[in-house]
Amino acid sequence: MTYKYDFDTLVNKDNCGSFKQAFKEKKLIPDEVVPFVGAELEFKTSPYIIESLKNKVLSGVYSYTKDDEQYRDSVKWWMKNVRKWHIDKEWICPSLGILKSLSTCINAFTEEDDGVIIQPPVFGAYKKIITRAKRKVFINKLKYNDGRYSIDFIDLENIMSKTQVKLMVVCNPQNPIAKTWSKENLEKICELAYKNDVVIYSDEILADMTSSDIHTTALASVKHGENVGIIGTSLSKAFNFSGAIHSNIIIPNKILREKYLSQRDKDYYDGMSCFMYSAVISAYNSDSLNWLKEMNKYLDENAQLIYDFFEKNIPEIRVCERNSGFLLWIDWSAWELTEQELHDFLEKAHFYVEEGSYYGNDYCKFTRMVIAMPRRYILQALNRLLTLLKKED
Ligand SMILES: Cc1ncc(COP(=O)(O)O)c(C=O)c1O
Repeated sequence: MTYKYDFDTLVNKDNCGSFKQAFKEKKLIPDEVVPFVGAELEFKTSPYIIESLKNKVLSGVYSYTKDDEQYRDSVKWWMKNVRKWHIDKEWICPSLGILKSLSTCINAFTEEDDGVIIQPPVFGAYKKIITRAKRKVFINKLKYNDGRYSIDFIDLENIMSKTQVKLMVVCNPQNPIAKTWSKENLEKICELAYKNDVVIYSDEILADMTSSDIHTTALASVKHGENVGIIGTSLSKAFNFSGAIHSNIIIPNKILREKYLSQRDKDYYDGMSCFMYSAVISAYNSDSLNWLKEMNKYLDENAQLIYDFFEKNIPEIRVCERNSGFLLWIDWSAWELTEQELHDFLEKAHFYVEEGSYYGNDYCKFTRMVIAMPRRYILQALNRLLTLLKKED
C-alpha cells in the first residue's frame, strides 16, 4: 500500500537522553542496526502534533496550565470516535504517567499487605511498583495454548474471593502479547470484581494501536465496569510520547474518582505540562486520527512480514497471535536454549529483543519484539538472522 505519511524515515535519537540510544551505546550496537527493544516508535509522530508543538514553542508562553473545555472536548471526542466510549467530561483526571497513576491507585485503594492481581505474561513494572509499595502480588497467569492466550477465569474467581485482594491491574491491549481483550472477557472480569469489591486499574496505554477492523473496548464501558473501573489512557504509545510522563485517567464512578483525585493531589498540584495540553488537542482530532489509521496499517504490514518470515524459514518458532499494538511475542521454546543462550545467539545476528523473563518467571523462552520502525530495518534484521542460521547449520 502507498502511504500519505512517512513511516520510512528513522528518527535520530542522538544527544537527547534517549534510553534506547544508551542501550545501543552500552551494547556497542552498530549505527545502522535498530534494536527491537523499548516500546516506542522509531519514526516521527503525527505531523499535526509536531506543527502544534512548534507553534507552542514559538509562542514563548509556557505558563501554568490546566485542562479546560477545549482539552476535555478533545479527549471526549477521541473516546467517542475511536474507542466507541461515551464519557462525561468530568470523568477525565489529567495525571502524570500511567505507572505513576497505578501508584496513586495503590495508595488510594489498598493498604500495606493488601493484594493486587496481575496477569502474566505482563509488563514487568507492575510487579515492581506493587511490591515496592509493600502490597502483595497475586498471580492470575494467562492460559497458553499454541501461540494463543486466554484468561483463566476459574483461577481469577478464586483469587478475587480472597478478602486481602483489593485491586487488579488489567493491561488492555496486553503488553507483551499484543492482545486486545474482548468485551465478553472484560464483562466477566468486571462482574467478578463487582461481586468481590475489587477495584480495577485498566492500563489502556496501547489502546489506540489496533488492527484496522477492531477497537479496544474500554473496561469501564462494559456492564459493571462503570462501578469498578479506572481507565488509564495516554498519548504515550500511539503518538510516541513516552518521555512526556502524562496521562488522562478516566473514572466514571464518582466515589472512585474522588478517592483517586484526593490521592493524586496529595503529591501533585493539579496542573499539567503546557506542552501536553497542546499535544493532546492536536492528537485527538480527525487529522491525527487519519495518521494513526495509516500507522496501524503500516504496523499490520510489518507484523505480517515477520509472521511470513518465521513460517517460511523457522517454522518451529511460534510468533504469537496479535490483534493490536506494536509488539510481537515470540515463543522460541522449540530450540530448547536457556535465556542466555537464546540472546547470545540472537545478538550474534544483531537481533536485539526484550527478554521474556521481564514479563514473568515462566517466560525465559519467549522474547518481545517492537515492530514500529521503518520496514527496511526489520527486513535487514531478519536477513541477518537467516544468514546466521544457515552458517551455524
Ligand atoms: C503497558 C504499559 N503501561 C505503562 C507503561 C508506562 O507508561 P508511563 O510512562 O506513562 O508510566 C508502559 C511502557 O512501556 C507500558 O508498556
